[in-house]
Amino acid sequence: MRKTSSDSALLRIEGLRLHFKTMRGTVQAVDDVTFSLNRGRTLVVVGESGCGKSSLARGILRLLPRNVETYSGKIYLNGDELMCLTDERFRREVRWVRMSMVPQAAMNSLNPVVRVEDQVAEPLLVHKCVTTREEAYERAREAFRMVGVPLDFMTRYPFELSGGMRQRVALAMALVTDPELVVLDEPTSALDLLTQANIMNVLKQIKKDIGVTFILITHDIATSSELADDAAVMYAGQLVEFCDAGRFYLDPLHPYSRGLMGSVPTLWERKDLMFIPGQPPSLLDPPKGCRFAERCPDRFDKCEEEPPLTEVDVGHWVKCWLHR
Ligand SMILES: Nc1ncnc2c1ncn2[C@@H]1O[C@H](COP(=O)(O)OP(=O)(O)OP(=O)(O)O)[C@@H](O)[C@H]1O
Ligand SMILES: [Mg+2]
Repeated sequence: MRKTSSDSALLRIEGLRLHFKTMRGTVQAVDDVTFSLNRGRTLVVVGESGCGKSSLARGILRLLPRNVETYSGKIYLNGDELMCLTDERFRREVRWVRMSMVPQAAMNSLNPVVRVEDQVAEPLLVHKCVTTREEAYERAREAFRMVGVPLDFMTRYPFELSGGMRQRVALAMALVTDPELVVLDEPTSALDLLTQANIMNVLKQIKKDIGVTFILITHDIATSSELADDAAVMYAGQLVEFCDAGRFYLDPLHPYSRGLMGSVPTLWERKDLMFIPGQPPSLLDPPKGCRFAERCPDRFDKCEEEPPLTEVDVGHWVKCWLHR
């Protein structure tokens, strides 16, 4: 695999585009996304429904639907350029081996007629990460322990487990090959509050124990703060802000990020919750200038041009003319 010269990031994405062909035109689900993520950190990705978060995840893992029109840019994993790999090499050497994913609604996508231990052991056997079946099942047991699934549940079928337990099984499947990067697409949505908190605690513990790098896609800005080291804000297919979590949760710069943060209720502070009037633009024909301009309280003439993603402080990137 081709190496970059000097990048120390575990994951570096440059100008990633993922566009889909539809009857109504081209959907620009991910449009020119660039960022770097260092090893052992957790990146929280937030943004309104439909802004391209799952598409970004699919682009990183090359899990592409048939109607892809454009899939371009560069993806480096620990310096190795992945876009130049054939699909076959990517499948054999990267996906599920070096990076894995817990897809959105994973707990409902387990195979209903296969016992969960077989499903967790499968990636090891398929990718020949182990030499014997015994070793695969031993590694599966370790993964079950790591995610807090009692070992006597291993022989059950998915329907015999609660939603929270099934979500843990999906997490075990993603972790069992000991990947460098795990992408979690809304791992706690559709779970009750207590189960959500349990899953977040499991993730925190795993992060502490094995130092894996996570990308956590979530709507739950408040809860994700416990896990976040970095934050990325997406709007209409683009990255509009990227910074460390401290800055994002306390004082984000992009007007859209500020609106998002203002809409998060807190227990310790009485405040009027903000909301962002209007709707995000259609990704079929997004505006030429700043895609947020129409809803932005701070817009001015310049916003008719597209602002570049600019590093306004070390590691703090903002796509807004107010911050140049
Ligand atoms: N295969 C596809 N073909 C056409 N359009 C698609 C396809 N997959 C996703 N889209 C569109 O791409 C845009 C981004 O979708 P995506 O699922 O990535 O958003 P999201 O941020 O994950 O949303 P949510 O928070 O609801 O999960 C949406 O407009 C969606 O309708
Ligand atoms: Mg999604």
